[in-house]
Amino acid sequence: MDLYIDTANLDEIKQANDLGVLDGVTTNPSLIAKEDVEFHAHMQAICKIVKGPVSAEVISTDTDGMLREGRELAKIADNIVIKLPCIVDGVRACKTLSDEGIRTNLTLCFQPVQALIVAKAGAFIVSPFIGRIDDIGEDGMNLIAQIRQIYDNYGYTTKILAASIRGTKHVVDAAILGADIATVPFNVIAKMLKHPLTDNGLKAFLEAWNKQ
Ligand code: E4P
Repeated sequence: MDLYIDTANLDEIKQANDLGVLDGVTTNPSLIAKEDVEFHAHMQAICKIVKGPVSAEVISTDTDGMLREGRELAKIADNIVIKLPCIVDGVRACKTLSDEGIRTNLTLCFQPVQALIVAKAGAFIVSPFIGRIDDIGEDGMNLIAQIRQIYDNYGYTTKILAASIRGTKHVVDAAILGADIATVPFNVIAKMLKHPLTDNGLKAFLEAWNKQ
């Protein structure tokens, strides 16, 4: 499974990239707004740090605006992926950009039929939002399972990216179900490398070694 970081913070991106296991980055308008930066210059800075796919989201809600923004964003770097919402205009923009060879990430996916349609429109990535589904008392992980089954039934190659990840269990469950990618906030990446038995075991090994 590929591991992306879900942030626009350069410091977090650098730290995660230094681990040597980071495959990409996802951003969204809320994450960019937190950084108080010029959007295009900031995306360029992220693309210089991480070689893998870096998602940059449009803010237009009509197809023409999405295409205009998407084509401009695509000029920033070869690894930019254009993030579009799973709405009618987003699907149209996805089809056009995909036909032009521009990779897309269809975001805010909350039901399997949205994933089916965006795969047919040539999306490179679909982003089901696990945490936000759990937040309303439903089972976000079931959406991953349903999309995996549908894509496997018909051989769609659109990558399933588990988004809106809240904790390490989401990462484990998404991996077991065969999500292609998980995009994980920095604090959750840190938790993926933390276990008290690892820390206690290491401490005991070193104490024993030093007593020799
Ligand atoms: C995905 O690409 C989104 O940026 C992100 O995962 C949204 O997560 P949230 O529900 O924590 O805002």
